[in-house]
Amino acid sequence: MIAIGSDHAGYQLKKEITAWLYDKNIPYLEFGCMEGESCDYPLVAKEVCERIVSGNADLAILICGTGIGISMAANKIKGIRAAVCTDTYTAKYTRLHNDANVLCIGGRVTGTGVALEIVETFLNTSFEGGRHQRRVDQITSLENS
Ligand code: RB5
Repeated sequence: MIAIGSDHAGYQLKKEITAWLYDKNIPYLEFGCMEGESCDYPLVAKEVCERIVSGNADLAILICGTGIGISMAANKIKGIRAAVCTDTYTAKYTRLHNDANVLCIGGRVTGTGVALEIVETFLNTSFEGGRHQRRVDQITSLENS
């Protein structure tokens, strides 16, 4: 299950991504701004990331204007490793090496075609484990210190 949410600045791109998820038969839960109305990205981050922490979603996608504010908010939540990606290389390696569980995209930065390739790469790449597990555990220790 994928949880996806956006503020108003990410609304259009969220609609493109949910249409793509629907076409691919990938189940999703949608949150945040539902009709383009103004809303606050930290609250959307909280709503979406709670689904990851509770185990109701496996991965999440968050979209604001730049992807940055919503990633900052998401990364304050225990258990969340959110990554802003603007290309498929970072989307691939943040799954392989960082075990990122939340993909953040800037709706005012990244065009639809590239965004959909980023989403596809993120969802289809698995964590490599091994030496990277130790480093992810160190991130978790920082979170608990
Ligand atoms: C909203 O105008 C904008 O500030 C927000 O979407 C985001 O880009 C913040 O980081």
